Amino acid sequence: MTTAPSSFVKGLEGIVAAQTEMSHIDGTAGILEYVGISIGDLSKHSTFEETVFLLWNKRLPNSSELGSFTSDLRANYALPEGFVERISSLPTSAEPMHMLRTMVSALAMYDDNPNDNSVEAARAKALKILGCAPAIVAAFDRHRRGLAPVEPDTSLSFSANFLYMLNGEKPTDAMTRAFDICMITHADHGLNNSTFTARVVISTLSDLYSAMTAAIGSLRGPLHGGANEGVMKMLNQIPTIDDAEAYVMGMIERKERIMGFGHRVYKAKDPRAAELMTLAKQLADDTGNSDLYEKSHKIEQVMEREYAAKGIYPNVDFYSATTYHCIGLKLDLFTPMFALSRIAGWSGHVIEQLADNRLFRPKAEYVGDHDVPYTPINDR
Ligand SMILES: CC(C)(COP(=O)(O)OP(=O)(O)OC[C@H]1O[C@@H](n2cnc3c(N)ncnc32)[C@H](O)[C@@H]1OP(=O)(O)O)[C@@H](O)C(=O)NCCC(=O)NCCS
Repeated sequence: MTTAPSSFVKGLEGIVAAQTEMSHIDGTAGILEYVGISIGDLSKHSTFEETVFLLWNKRLPNSSELGSFTSDLRANYALPEGFVERISSLPTSAEPMHMLRTMVSALAMYDDNPNDNSVEAARAKALKILGCAPAIVAAFDRHRRGLAPVEPDTSLSFSANFLYMLNGEKPTDAMTRAFDICMITHADHGLNNSTFTARVVISTLSDLYSAMTAAIGSLRGPLHGGANEGVMKMLNQIPTIDDAEAYVMGMIERKERIMGFGHRVYKAKDPRAAELMTLAKQLADDTGNSDLYEKSHKIEQVMEREYAAKGIYPNVDFYSATTYHCIGLKLDLFTPMFALSRIAGWSGHVIEQLADNRLFRPKAEYVGDHDVPYTPINDR
């Protein structure tokens, strides 16, 4: 039997499997742009609502377009009738990412036409999921704390409304802005694993809910969005700044992965990490968490000394951990926060895929035996 030369690429590294107009990454220069605008500019000047409009429409809105997009999103803040009762019946021990994956999937059953894959319908569904996902996370977190859910407030922005529904009180402008910057920086990132997952699912002409559900399942892995929780666990295990170097060196000696470092595409510092580092420092100073920031910064210095030559630098998850902690979020809500924002990117990619779809169907290289005789069961 002749064997063709293998074209197998483990992990699909470097393979271009889709085209997008949403985000551009230059992993060598450490650049991320949404529709050509740098993530630094968007973090400084934009809002999450404006960023989502940008991603979904491939241009910035004028003020009346932004106003109407914002009201459309706010009109979707509320959960469908009877949905909060479902959330309140879930085990309080459930992990929020499992809960979120399940409840986003459940939203399909509250949609009169869940399988409508016209671009117009997909946009409406995307707005619904993005609009009400914060209410799902907030209602569940309150349920497990034995608290009644808080109705959304449509006078508030996406970020302020989430923090309000979670805590039962309106957040300060500083906290809202910090959270909004997190939402902006996590909204889209090329063909990352969960986005690829969403595009693969919709390429069968399944439905947007299935694509989002699968993407949430992908995101929660510790090598992807789950890394932000891993970072916080590591920070919690390091008693003081003085212990940080020995702790990290121990991990390196044991050949353990340091969460929040390394990236398939970036071989320079992830520009989102640079934005979040500045934010984390400010928030840590403002909330009495300077030690946490200093520990993170020390770890970054040690990693730079040990690993920069290998192109391993902090990624988006490294400083988002300190940021989320300072905003007052519980550890197991960190990855759901990533999901809330990334719904924007996933759905934008699904819409792009639907607009020019071809089924994803790669091949596997068979590496097993051939011509194996069938052995009857009694002879095995
Ligand atoms: C993100 C990640 C999965 C990308 O990995 P990848 O492109 O598949 O690269 P590989 O897993 O093949 O790793 C390449 C090398 O770098 C090392 N490496 C990569 N990330 C590392 C990390 N965070 N800590 C220690 N070593 C790391 C690997 O051990 C491997 O070393 P080797 O060549 O000596 O075996 C990887 O960097 C990682 O596991 N990071 C930690 C998890 C994380 O922060 N994920 C969030 C990404 S946004």
